[in-house]
Amino acid sequence: MTEKLTGNERFNAEAASWDSNPSVHEASTLALKSILEHLPDIKTPNSFDVLEIGCGTGLLSFNIAPYVRSLTAVDPAQGMINAFNAKLAAKPHVRNILPVCAELSDPYDGRIRLDPLNRDLVQNLPSRRFDLILSHLVLHHIPSLEDTFKMMYGCLKKGGRVALTDFEDFGSEARRFHPEAKIEGVQRHGIRRAAVKELLEMAGFRDVKVETAFEMEKWVEEYPGAGVVKGEGGIKMRFPFLICMGVKDRDD
Ligand SMILES: C[S@@+](CC[C@H](N)C(=O)[O-])C[C@H]1O[C@@H](n2cnc3c(N)ncnc32)[C@H](O)[C@@H]1O
Repeated sequence: MTEKLTGNERFNAEAASWDSNPSVHEASTLALKSILEHLPDIKTPNSFDVLEIGCGTGLLSFNIAPYVRSLTAVDPAQGMINAFNAKLAAKPHVRNILPVCAELSDPYDGRIRLDPLNRDLVQNLPSRRFDLILSHLVLHHIPSLEDTFKMMYGCLKKGGRVALTDFEDFGSEARRFHPEAKIEGVQRHGIRRAAVKELLEMAGFRDVKVETAFEMEKWVEEYPGAGVVKGEGGIKMRFPFLICMGVKDRDD
Protein backbone atom coordinates (compact mmCIF):
# COMPACT_ATOMS: atom_id res chain seq x y z
CA MET A 1 0.00 0.00 0.00
CA THR A 2 1.27 3.53 -0.81
CA GLU A 3 1.95 5.55 2.35
CA LYS A 4 -0.30 8.61 2.57
CA LEU A 5 1.59 11.77 3.50
CA THR A 6 -0.08 15.01 4.47
CA GLY A 7 0.84 18.71 4.56
CA ASN A 8 4.55 19.57 4.62
CA GLU A 9 5.55 15.88 4.73
CA ARG A 10 3.86 15.30 1.39
CA PHE A 11 5.50 18.32 -0.26
CA ASN A 12 8.90 17.61 1.30
CA ALA A 13 8.73 14.12 -0.17
CA GLU A 14 7.59 15.35 -3.59
CA ALA A 15 9.92 18.34 -3.89
CA ALA A 16 12.84 16.63 -5.65
CA SER A 17 10.61 15.25 -8.42
CA TRP A 18 8.05 18.10 -8.53
CA ASP A 19 9.46 19.66 -11.70
CA SER A 20 9.36 16.36 -13.58
CA ASN A 21 5.55 16.53 -13.79
CA PRO A 22 4.67 18.28 -17.08
CA SER A 23 1.22 19.33 -15.84
CA VAL A 24 2.60 21.62 -13.10
CA HIS A 25 4.73 23.42 -15.71
CA GLU A 26 1.73 23.87 -17.99
CA ALA A 27 -0.43 25.18 -15.12
CA SER A 28 2.25 27.71 -14.10
CA THR A 29 2.71 28.92 -17.68
CA LEU A 30 -1.04 29.43 -18.09
CA ALA A 31 -1.25 31.14 -14.67
CA LEU A 32 1.52 33.57 -15.65
CA LYS A 33 -0.29 34.41 -18.89
CA SER A 34 -3.52 35.08 -17.03
CA ILE A 35 -1.78 37.21 -14.36
CA LEU A 36 -0.07 39.35 -17.02
CA GLU A 37 -3.38 39.77 -18.89
CA HIS A 38 -5.21 40.79 -15.72
CA LEU A 39 -2.44 43.12 -14.49
CA PRO A 40 -1.16 44.95 -17.58
CA ASP A 41 0.72 47.48 -15.42
CA ILE A 42 2.97 44.73 -14.00
CA LYS A 43 4.94 44.90 -17.25
CA THR A 44 6.43 48.24 -16.21
CA PRO A 45 10.00 47.13 -15.46
CA ASN A 46 11.05 46.91 -11.84
CA SER A 47 7.99 48.46 -10.28
CA PHE A 48 6.30 45.69 -8.25
CA ASP A 49 7.40 44.15 -4.96
CA VAL A 50 5.70 40.75 -4.93
CA LEU A 51 4.99 38.19 -2.21
CA GLU A 52 4.22 34.69 -3.42
CA ILE A 53 2.54 32.31 -0.98
CA GLY A 54 3.16 28.57 -1.57
CA CYS A 55 5.90 29.04 -4.19
CA GLY A 56 6.93 25.36 -4.21
CA THR A 57 10.04 24.87 -6.36
CA GLY A 58 9.50 28.27 -8.01
CA LEU A 59 7.78 27.36 -11.28
CA LEU A 60 5.69 30.55 -11.31
CA SER A 61 8.33 32.53 -9.38
CA PHE A 62 11.13 32.21 -11.95
CA ASN A 63 8.70 33.04 -14.76
CA ILE A 64 7.31 36.18 -13.13
CA ALA A 65 10.62 37.46 -11.70
CA PRO A 66 11.67 39.30 -14.92
CA TYR A 67 8.46 41.39 -14.74
CA VAL A 68 8.82 42.59 -11.14
CA ARG A 69 11.24 44.54 -8.95
CA SER A 70 11.45 41.87 -6.25
CA LEU A 71 9.86 38.58 -5.32
CA THR A 72 9.71 37.17 -1.79
CA ALA A 73 8.75 33.53 -2.35
CA VAL A 74 7.38 31.74 0.73
CA ASP A 75 6.57 28.06 1.30
CA PRO A 76 6.18 26.04 4.53
CA ALA A 77 7.80 22.88 3.07
CA GLN A 78 11.58 22.99 3.57
CA GLY A 79 12.01 20.41 0.77
CA MET A 80 10.34 22.77 -1.71
CA ILE A 81 12.53 25.69 -0.58
CA ASN A 82 15.66 23.51 -0.86
CA ALA A 83 14.72 22.64 -4.46
CA PHE A 84 13.98 26.34 -5.11
CA ASN A 85 17.38 27.37 -3.68
CA ALA A 86 19.19 24.78 -5.82
CA LYS A 87 17.57 26.25 -8.95
CA LEU A 88 18.37 29.79 -7.82
CA ALA A 89 22.02 28.87 -7.21
CA ALA A 90 22.21 27.67 -10.84
CA LYS A 91 20.93 31.07 -12.08
CA PRO A 92 23.35 33.65 -10.63
CA HIS A 93 21.91 36.34 -12.94
CA VAL A 94 18.56 36.15 -11.07
CA ARG A 95 19.08 38.49 -8.11
CA ASN A 96 15.59 39.72 -7.25
CA ILE A 97 14.17 36.56 -5.61
CA LEU A 98 14.36 35.67 -1.92
CA PRO A 99 12.99 32.20 -1.02
CA VAL A 100 11.76 31.88 2.57
CA CYS A 101 10.62 28.74 4.41
CA ALA A 102 7.58 29.84 6.41
CA GLU A 103 3.87 29.30 6.87
CA LEU A 104 2.81 32.91 7.20
CA SER A 105 0.06 33.95 9.55
CA ASP A 106 1.33 37.38 10.64
CA PRO A 107 1.90 40.34 8.28
CA TYR A 108 4.64 41.49 10.69
CA ASP A 109 6.52 38.17 10.40
CA GLY A 110 10.22 39.10 10.41
CA ARG A 111 11.00 36.42 7.81
CA ILE A 112 9.42 38.52 5.03
CA ARG A 113 11.03 41.78 6.16
CA LEU A 114 14.14 41.63 3.98
CA ASP A 115 14.15 43.29 0.59
CA PRO A 116 15.58 40.67 -1.82
CA LEU A 117 17.58 43.42 -3.57
CA ASN A 118 18.94 45.13 -0.43
CA ARG A 119 19.14 42.38 2.15
CA ASP A 120 21.45 44.29 4.46
CA LEU A 121 19.71 47.65 4.35
CA VAL A 122 16.23 47.15 5.70
CA GLN A 123 16.71 44.98 8.74
CA ASN A 124 15.43 47.69 11.07
CA LEU A 125 12.08 48.08 9.36
CA PRO A 126 9.18 46.84 11.52
CA SER A 127 7.50 45.27 8.48
CA ARG A 128 7.60 45.13 4.71
CA ARG A 129 4.61 45.77 2.48
CA PHE A 130 4.01 44.47 -1.04
CA ASP A 131 2.38 45.71 -4.27
CA LEU A 132 1.11 42.29 -5.26
CA ILE A 133 0.47 38.90 -3.66
CA LEU A 134 0.37 35.76 -5.80
CA SER A 135 -0.40 32.16 -5.00
CA HIS A 136 -0.86 29.41 -7.55
CA LEU A 137 -2.39 25.98 -6.84
CA VAL A 138 -2.21 26.70 -3.11
CA LEU A 139 -5.63 27.89 -1.88
CA HIS A 140 -7.02 24.35 -1.99
CA HIS A 141 -4.36 23.34 0.59
CA ILE A 142 -4.99 26.17 3.06
CA PRO A 143 -7.10 25.25 6.11
CA SER A 144 -8.54 28.73 6.77
CA LEU A 145 -8.94 30.95 3.70
CA GLU A 146 -10.52 33.55 5.98
CA ASP A 147 -7.32 33.86 8.07
CA THR A 148 -5.03 33.69 5.03
CA PHE A 149 -6.90 36.45 3.15
CA LYS A 150 -6.71 38.67 6.26
CA MET A 151 -2.97 37.99 6.51
CA MET A 152 -2.57 38.81 2.79
CA TYR A 153 -4.49 42.05 3.25
CA GLY A 154 -2.14 43.03 6.08
CA CYS A 155 0.94 42.35 3.91
CA LEU A 156 -0.12 44.78 1.15
CA LYS A 157 0.60 48.47 0.64
CA LYS A 158 -2.34 50.78 0.07
CA GLY A 159 -3.29 50.14 -3.58
CA GLY A 160 -1.73 46.66 -3.43
CA ARG A 161 -3.49 43.71 -5.02
CA VAL A 162 -3.92 39.96 -4.87
CA ALA A 163 -4.00 37.73 -7.97
CA LEU A 164 -4.56 34.17 -6.78
CA THR A 165 -4.96 31.24 -9.16
CA ASP A 166 -6.24 27.76 -8.41
CA PHE A 167 -8.53 25.14 -9.93
CA GLU A 168 -12.26 25.60 -9.56
CA ASP A 169 -14.58 23.42 -7.54
CA PHE A 170 -17.10 22.90 -10.33
CA GLY A 171 -18.89 19.99 -8.65
CA SER A 172 -18.26 16.42 -7.51
CA GLU A 173 -15.93 15.62 -10.43
CA ALA A 174 -13.45 18.29 -9.23
CA ARG A 175 -12.28 15.73 -6.63
CA ARG A 176 -10.58 13.86 -9.47
CA PHE A 177 -7.93 16.62 -9.76
CA HIS A 178 -5.89 14.70 -7.18
CA PRO A 179 -5.11 11.00 -7.24
CA GLU A 180 -6.64 9.20 -4.24
CA ALA A 181 -3.17 8.72 -2.65
CA LYS A 182 -2.71 12.51 -2.42
CA ILE A 183 -6.17 13.51 -1.31
CA GLU A 184 -5.66 13.38 2.45
CA GLY A 185 -3.87 16.73 2.87
CA VAL A 186 -6.21 18.51 0.46
CA GLN A 187 -8.49 20.95 2.29
CA ARG A 188 -10.98 21.44 -0.56
CA HIS A 189 -11.45 20.10 -4.07
CA GLY A 190 -10.81 23.41 -5.76
CA ILE A 191 -12.11 26.87 -4.92
CA ARG A 192 -15.63 28.19 -5.29
CA ARG A 193 -16.23 31.54 -6.96
CA ALA A 194 -18.89 32.88 -4.60
CA ALA A 195 -17.18 31.66 -1.42
CA VAL A 196 -13.78 33.18 -2.36
CA LYS A 197 -15.38 36.47 -3.39
CA GLU A 198 -17.23 36.72 -0.08
CA LEU A 199 -14.11 35.86 1.97
CA LEU A 200 -11.91 38.37 0.09
CA GLU A 201 -14.53 41.08 0.71
CA MET A 202 -14.76 40.10 4.38
CA ALA A 203 -10.97 40.47 4.63
CA GLY A 204 -11.32 44.08 3.42
CA PHE A 205 -10.57 43.80 -0.32
CA ARG A 206 -12.40 46.05 -2.80
CA ASP A 207 -13.09 45.57 -6.53
CA VAL A 208 -13.09 41.83 -5.96
CA LYS A 209 -13.31 39.76 -9.13
CA VAL A 210 -13.20 35.97 -9.37
CA GLU A 211 -13.06 34.92 -13.02
CA THR A 212 -12.13 31.96 -15.19
CA ALA A 213 -8.41 32.29 -15.86
CA PHE A 214 -7.89 29.30 -18.16
CA GLU A 215 -8.79 25.66 -18.65
CA MET A 216 -6.30 22.84 -18.65
CA GLU A 217 -6.35 19.15 -19.47
CA LYS A 218 -4.81 16.91 -16.84
CA TRP A 219 -4.30 13.17 -16.47
CA VAL A 220 -6.55 11.74 -13.76
CA GLU A 221 -7.08 8.28 -12.36
CA GLU A 222 -9.38 6.07 -14.39
CA TYR A 223 -10.94 4.98 -11.09
CA PRO A 224 -10.05 6.02 -7.50
CA GLY A 225 -6.69 4.52 -6.57
CA ALA A 226 -5.70 3.47 -10.12
CA GLY A 227 -2.72 5.84 -9.96
CA VAL A 228 -1.02 8.26 -12.38
CA VAL A 229 2.74 8.42 -12.82
CA LYS A 230 4.32 11.89 -12.69
CA GLY A 231 1.22 13.51 -14.09
CA GLU A 232 0.73 10.99 -16.91
CA GLY A 233 -1.44 7.92 -17.45
CA GLY A 234 -5.09 7.19 -16.69
CA ILE A 235 -7.56 9.39 -18.58
CA LYS A 236 -7.52 13.08 -19.48
CA MET A 237 -9.97 15.51 -17.91
CA ARG A 238 -10.44 19.24 -18.42
CA PHE A 239 -10.27 21.51 -15.34
CA PRO A 240 -11.25 25.18 -15.10
CA PHE A 241 -8.93 27.50 -13.16
CA LEU A 242 -9.96 30.76 -11.49
CA ILE A 243 -8.09 34.00 -10.93
CA CYS A 244 -9.14 35.81 -7.74
CA MET A 245 -8.37 39.52 -7.64
CA GLY A 246 -8.89 42.28 -5.11
CA VAL A 247 -7.44 45.66 -4.12
CA LYS A 248 -6.49 47.07 -0.72
CA ASP A 249 -7.70 50.64 -1.01
CA ARG A 250 -6.63 52.00 2.38
CA ASP A 251 -3.74 52.09 4.83
CA ASP A 252 -3.65 49.63 7.75
C1 LIG B 1 0.32 22.16 -5.28
S1 LIG B 1 1.77 22.87 -4.62
C2 LIG B 1 2.00 24.27 -5.70
C3 LIG B 1 3.41 24.76 -5.70
C4 LIG B 1 3.70 25.83 -6.73
N1 LIG B 1 2.90 27.00 -6.50
C5 LIG B 1 3.51 25.30 -8.13
O1 LIG B 1 2.54 25.69 -8.81
O2 LIG B 1 4.33 24.47 -8.57
C6 LIG B 1 1.16 23.63 -3.15
C7 LIG B 1 2.23 24.33 -2.36
O3 LIG B 1 1.60 25.03 -1.29
C8 LIG B 1 2.35 24.85 -0.13
N2 LIG B 1 1.44 24.98 1.01
C9 LIG B 1 0.71 24.02 1.60
N3 LIG B 1 0.00 24.52 2.62
C10 LIG B 1 0.29 25.85 2.66
C11 LIG B 1 -0.13 26.92 3.51
N4 LIG B 1 -1.00 26.73 4.51
N5 LIG B 1 0.38 28.15 3.27
C12 LIG B 1 1.25 28.35 2.26
N6 LIG B 1 1.66 27.38 1.42
C13 LIG B 1 1.20 26.14 1.63
C14 LIG B 1 2.99 23.49 -0.26
O4 LIG B 1 4.14 23.34 0.56
C15 LIG B 1 3.27 23.42 -1.73
O5 LIG B 1 4.57 23.86 -2.05
